[in-house]
Amino acid sequence: IPIAVFASGSGSNFQAIAEAIEQQQLHAKIELVVTDKPDAYVIKRAESKGIPVLAVHPKDFSSKEEYEEAILQALREKKVEWLILAGYMRLVGHTLLQGFASRIVNIHPSLLPSFTGKDAIGQAMDHGVKITGVTVHYVDEGMDTGPIIMQKAVNVIDNNREETEAVIHAVEHDLYVAALKDILK
Ligand code: GRF
Repeated sequence: IPIAVFASGSGSNFQAIAEAIEQQQLHAKIELVVTDKPDAYVIKRAESKGIPVLAVHPKDFSSKEEYEEAILQALREKKVEWLILAGYMRLVGHTLLQGFASRIVNIHPSLLPSFTGKDAIGQAMDHGVKITGVTVHYVDEGMDTGPIIMQKAVNVIDNNREETEAVIHAVEHDLYVAALKDILK
């Protein structure tokens, strides 16, 4: 199944998905990595795996529609069927939502519907919750609001953001692969 991974940052989730595919745990092919950040580390990770990268700067386009049209065209050329968001720090607009209706998924580092948006781990720590977690969900027009596919709880390690974050990221990598195994059939 041809997929595209959208990322704006480090790309550790991209890496986990790519490795699961290499190990044939997941039957998919990453045809394209799409990033809105020309200096994102995910680009290096993709290049080292020989996966094509589309780096598009929203500022080079006069509207969100035009920006997403450019992405849509590249996705069509590669015959991509699913969009996998992994740290893509942008709301998906109508153009991509219509082009890939019910075929866009995202991972978020909290137990949704709690702590949507940026720095979900920091929000959870600041709130003093003792349990947070990871959610894989379908993407709709809202921010981290689409139907939930899979969740896993993570215990907060008190006053230790770094350790808590490390556990959450490790859980993310496993949960995303597990959810994609379920969905990409
Ligand atoms: C992850 O925590 C993901 O849940 C969030 O952004 C982060 C991306 O990390 N949406 P990485 O770029 O995959 O390492």
